[in-house]
Amino acid sequence: MSTTLITNIGELTTNVGSPEGDRFGTLHDAAVLIDGGRIAWVGSADAAPVADEIIDAGGRAVIPGFVDSHSHLVFGGDRAAEFEARMAGQKYAAGGIRSTVAATRAASDDELRARLRGFMDELLAQGTTTIEIKSGYGLSVTDEERLVRLAAEVTPEVTFLGAHVVPAEYADRADEYVDLVTGPMLEVCAPHARWIDVFCETGAFSVEQSRRVLEAGVVQGLMPRVHASQLGPGDGVRLAVELGAASIDHGTYLTDDDVAALAASDTVLTLLPGVEFSTRQPYPDARRLIDAGVTVALACDTNPGSSFTSSMPFCIAIAVRDMGMTPAEAVWGATAGGAQALRRDDVGVIAVGARADLVLLTAPTRIHLAYRPGVPLVDQVWKDGVAVFASPAEVRGTENHGPLAR
Ligand code: NIG
Ligand code: FE
Repeated sequence: MSTTLITNIGELTTNVGSPEGDRFGTLHDAAVLIDGGRIAWVGSADAAPVADEIIDAGGRAVIPGFVDSHSHLVFGGDRAAEFEARMAGQKYAAGGIRSTVAATRAASDDELRARLRGFMDELLAQGTTTIEIKSGYGLSVTDEERLVRLAAEVTPEVTFLGAHVVPAEYADRADEYVDLVTGPMLEVCAPHARWIDVFCETGAFSVEQSRRVLEAGVVQGLMPRVHASQLGPGDGVRLAVELGAASIDHGTYLTDDDVAALAASDTVLTLLPGVEFSTRQPYPDARRLIDAGVTVALACDTNPGSSFTSSMPFCIAIAVRDMGMTPAEAVWGATAGGAQALRRDDVGVIAVGARADLVLLTAPTRIHLAYRPGVPLVDQVWKDGVAVFASPAEVRGTENHGPLAR
């Protein structure tokens, strides 16, 4: 198997910290050896082993590939007009999901697949090497099965979200729809999925209905994660913690009791800055959460309604600018935090034995991801040790971002 050494790395974020030291595991003048799909060595560039191929990072920064633990990438249509209306003052309501359901049902497998593959390329070009994808725009047995099956073609992190909203044909019969989700729909979807999710929110599913959905998924071998407290406070966090969910996502409106329960649990809180940006809701105070001891991840929640961004750098910039996270905390949340939200220890870190998923930035520090918002800073990306993206030469210049010498 051939080896690749990435050397002359000005700032390497490994996320391998010691409790008493820098928990982001930052190294300077570092090198990383890739052997096959895995990381084989990490250390000082001076002491680097020989390798078949050498990549000179030129003093720039390297971070783990982003781990985006929340997306809804299999859908038809778009909702640009809804976004435009919202920017003109209209409030976001989960009911918009139903218009995407209609467009998704009308799309063929090949149409959905082609779009999904386009999104996968879009993700790699922005440094995301692990992606979770949810169903939830089919809401019938056959359509939900299509969505989880198509998602499973591109990622192992597939989530069955049949309980996204109650579809129009079950209006006023929500409990019957929950029977369908926990019965025949789950039966055909579970073989393609790793996770079970529910939108536990006023206007979607009650805490009792949500409990039924999650518990039925667990019986089929799926692990729970929960959408909650997006539109207002509710009982979803309590339920997620009680069931040992890997993550509760959104958390825009958290009570002090929610925060205390999360801090005392293994459940990650996944914040979705793109949602607040695109719905004009208030940004959650990540500082309050981190200071209380909550593990905070960041994800894009790419979907045509509440957040149609797939850019982790954009979400990092918002988290730093408007949610009180330091750049290092935000990068951790978008890498190691996402991995924890997916209960993965082979991604989100640059450590011997981990998958060789790495991003070389065009910039000298990870701070630049927030400091230079909207600028394409992803220069090269490796996934499982394979070079999967290189930026066009004309945006490669590092001198744009500041001096590289430390
Ligand atoms: O994560 N919260 C529910 N589901 C999506 C929104 C989907 C949509 O508006 O289409 C979310 O924000
Ligand atoms: Fe979502």
